[in-house]
Amino acid sequence: MQNGLKNKVVVITGASSGIGKATAELLAAGGAKVVIGARRADRLQNLAAAIQSYGGQVAWRETDVTNREDLQKLVALAIDRFEGLDVMVNNAGIAQLSKMEDLDIEGWQQMIDVNIKGTLYGIAAALPQFKKQGSGHIINIISTAGIAIVPAMGVYAGTKNAVRTISEALRQESDGRWRVTGISPGYVQSEFVSNIRNEAIREASQEKADQISIPADSIAQAVAYAVSQPGNVDIGDIVIRPSVQG
Ligand SMILES: NC(=O)c1ccc[n+]([C@@H]2O[C@H](COP(=O)([O-])OP(=O)(O)OC[C@H]3O[C@@H](n4cnc5c(N)ncnc54)[C@H](OP(=O)(O)O)[C@@H]3O)[C@@H](O)[C@H]2O)c1
Repeated sequence: MQNGLKNKVVVITGASSGIGKATAELLAAGGAKVVIGARRADRLQNLAAAIQSYGGQVAWRETDVTNREDLQKLVALAIDRFEGLDVMVNNAGIAQLSKMEDLDIEGWQQMIDVNIKGTLYGIAAALPQFKKQGSGHIINIISTAGIAIVPAMGVYAGTKNAVRTISEALRQESDGRWRVTGISPGYVQSEFVSNIRNEAIREASQEKADQISIPADSIAQAVAYAVSQPGNVDIGDIVIRPSVQG
């Protein structure tokens, strides 16, 4: 599998923690050239230094995925530094969970901006280069929240299912020019739950996550698997959850 990673140029959003960070580490260790983005520059700098310390190839740029220009600049960095773009991993995501009657409009807007618009801006930044090359690979990190619908996760799941739908259309439009993979994680060890503002839901989610969540590397392994396939093989949808998750 590692040979399929060698020298692939991979942009990863949300690479300052959790799944994005684990993916950057695994792919760089396998010989990919990783270009990492997120808002916390200090985290990116430390991760880049760690990757470089074992001879890995990496570039980083402070990136807010709600800003289309930031995604364009992140992709431009990949093309300038590593002369192309093989894979765009749209991983940055947030969850502001609450019942809809609580009217957390700000939380809804944040999830729409980061999870939907952020992914679309990543796709928009990558596609011109993919069209030029005649090849490319979009990997969108979705969620099992969009598969098993439960209370308080309605808007979050809605944003993730928007990405699922967009991914499938993008795959059908490709006609062999690019590959599209959707990866839906269940509970994963990361900083994700700690960013939920609703205290009661954050605490309940954290308790569940502490009990059952699986390492972020489990998701990184799936990204590596999809990236490593020959160009004519498109891994469509992967669902990865703790074996005890209902
Ligand atoms: N953990 C889970 O249980 C779980 C389950 C299903 C799906 N997922 C999905 O997995 C993905 C990664 O989440 P994670 O679990 O690794 O959580 P995490 O540790 O909180 O990581 C989220 C990443 O997204 C970045 N991010 C958030 N807002 C951003 C913005 N506006 N611009 C750029 N980057 C932004 C964060 O970086 P900065 O704060 O530095 O910007 C961070 O690097 C998300 O799409 C999430 O929906 C997670």
